Amino acid sequence: MTRRAAVLAGLGSALPPRVVTNDDLAGRMDTSDAWIRTRTGIAERRVVDPGTATSDLAITAGRRALDSAGGPRVGAVVLATATPDHPCPATGPTVAAGLGLGTVPAFDVGAVCSGFLYALVTGAGLLAAEVADSVLVIGADAFTTLVDPHDRATAPIFADGAGAVVLRAGRTDEPGALRAIDLASDGLQADLIRVAAGGSRQRSHHTEALREDHYLTMRGGEVFKNAVLRMTESSRTVLARTGWTTADVDLLVGHQANARILYAVADQLGADRERTYVNIGHTGNTAAGSIPLALDEAAGEGRLRPGDRVLLTAFGAGTTWGAVTLTWPHGLTRPRTPAA
Ligand code: UT7
Repeated sequence: MTRRAAVLAGLGSALPPRVVTNDDLAGRMDTSDAWIRTRTGIAERRVVDPGTATSDLAITAGRRALDSAGGPRVGAVVLATATPDHPCPATGPTVAAGLGLGTVPAFDVGAVCSGFLYALVTGAGLLAAEVADSVLVIGADAFTTLVDPHDRATAPIFADGAGAVVLRAGRTDEPGALRAIDLASDGLQADLIRVAAGGSRQRSHHTEALREDHYLTMRGGEVFKNAVLRMTESSRTVLARTGWTTADVDLLVGHQANARILYAVADQLGADRERTYVNIGHTGNTAAGSIPLALDEAAGEGRLRPGDRVLLTAFGAGTTWGAVTLTWPHGLTRPRTPAA
């Protein structure tokens, strides 16, 4: 029996309207536009206003992906997020209901900045297991809700946004099919990026939980080195499994954590920087939203043509990382207005 492959059939994204520039940040912490641009590649980012939650971004991105797939229905929803609307329940069912999808299976996947790749592979698994014939896979985060707005180690980097794809069952040899997959984790590095309180280990209602324990902390330098190493290794693994060389890759779309990380991975792989997609300049690091948001913007700019060979890779808290190869489908290349 041949396995049912997952084929990309729809694409969409959403960014909140409020723009926060580097100068805005420099007004409230010891940083500068020059430092943030040079060290991260970020010029501005989008931030949700109070009252907007992850599900709002996910529903908008999901609706756009369903529209682009040409049909309002899918058989399941997988939402990658580290910023669910509530600690309980999962946000996936809220998103499925918001999209009018009835009682389809819907749940969250938590792998933080690698979350979209984990969710994509989970969606492919639902298709292979014949749980559904089509799956909406969304990466969405309102990551600024975890960040101390005065912390210069995290506030310049993290931002809010969502992206989504529709997967349908198909054949591995058709344009749009996922090809090779590599996923991995190292829980010994769990403290590199984390929010200490609010879970079962350090409960939010305990009075001894400090206010700052509810904010994200990150050991940036160590994360940087691990991100370059792991994204490079994982990319090499999937390229070998697909039978592609680096030169075969038309577009490298990595998790947008830092432009310097993306170029370092490209350099380690021997990839042309021109074929490395970077949109972090106006999005910041949108965590699980970043890869599908980058795919949607790249497609809207005409950077992805049918049959193009695409390499996705990510690294994030957990730590988790991974890579996926795919070919670009027909029908998802038309110029679009930027996500809003
Ligand atoms: O998405 C999940 C994965 N996350 C990531 O992949 C993020 C990975 N890490 C990074 O992107 C980088 O480590 C950062 C952008 C977070 C930091 O950049 P860096 O080049 O690693 O800076 P650093 O922490 O080594 O600090 C270098 C200098 C220090 O000053 P001294 O000691 O050299 O005088 C810092 O105090 O830059 C200073 N600094 C800042 N200066 C102005 C650190 N943050 C800032 C800031 N503004 N925001």
